[in-house]
Amino acid sequence: MSLDPEKAVLPSRQQLFDFHGVSMIPIFTDNWENVQNFQARPDDILIATYPKAGTTWVSQILDLLYFGQTERQKTIPIFERVPFLEIAVPSLVSGKDLADKLTTTPRLIKTHFPVQFVPKSFWEQNCKIVYVARNAKDNMVSFFHFDRMNMAHPDPGDWSNYIHRFMEGKMVFGSWYDHVNGWWKKKQNYSNIHYMFYEDMIEDTEREIDKLCSFLGLSRSAEERKMISGGVQFDKMKKNEMANYSTLPVMDFKISPFMRKGKVGDWKNHFTVAQNEVFDEDYKKKMKDPTLQFRTEI
Ligand code: PPS
Repeated sequence: MSLDPEKAVLPSRQQLFDFHGVSMIPIFTDNWENVQNFQARPDDILIATYPKAGTTWVSQILDLLYFGQTERQKTIPIFERVPFLEIAVPSLVSGKDLADKLTTTPRLIKTHFPVQFVPKSFWEQNCKIVYVARNAKDNMVSFFHFDRMNMAHPDPGDWSNYIHRFMEGKMVFGSWYDHVNGWWKKKQNYSNIHYMFYEDMIEDTEREIDKLCSFLGLSRSAEERKMISGGVQFDKMKKNEMANYSTLPVMDFKISPFMRKGKVGDWKNHFTVAQNEVFDEDYKKKMKDPTLQFRTEI
């Protein structure tokens, strides 16, 4: 079932296009029909995020909670343990096929889709969904560096233009504002979504693991939870080749590593005072729901 990245025909930088009202690139839409027809099972767990919000971190935590520190953890990279449903890179097994071939129970599946793109079988089967959100400023900084080093993504250009692109939602997977709000609204009428925040995980990983266990109906001893929390701290995951994406050639770690800083507040090293004012002004107009609050520092 290996992805065999050596054999991949790597896409060159792709261009954004409008796909049902969301900015996307072809590697995430080319397999649309198959992905929409994906047959979820009731015990599947979907990990949904806007890109760069903490997907890999939560994926690693869930994998450890369900399957423990076994051979699987040491030999199978995270992108095979937790397939990325909508990805379709020519000559590589698609995320949908990888998900179909998973032999684990439950199957852990990753998506960056905005809520309206999620295949209907996940709702029909009442699957549990873990959504992770991260504050807009740090999310954007992380995405900027990722777009620099991921050779399939559009070139990010310079930082000052990038901020405007982000505010306009001209990003891969569209608008951050629509994404976090769309999923937040969905939570109001679909009770099987656990909506969590990157900042809370940084503040107290163990507490967030406890909450995940309650949501998933898992009883794990305090000792186990502590061990998992310790094992998924940034420095450990950065060094872990099965979690840090170092085996995927499409990413150029010389430009920026996948595990870059892992912090809350790095945006302060990127935004000028003027850029921050413009951003905050625009943010207030777009983020009207007082029940959805983000922390840009802790
Ligand atoms: S992706 O490509 O969308 O799946 O990326 P994603 O995993 O969502 O986000 C990558 C950012 O998450 C940080 N990260 C972590 N932070 C703290 N602790 C741990 N264990 C951890 N693992 C991943 C990663 O460093 C990226 O954030 P930045 O700010 O760029 O460092």
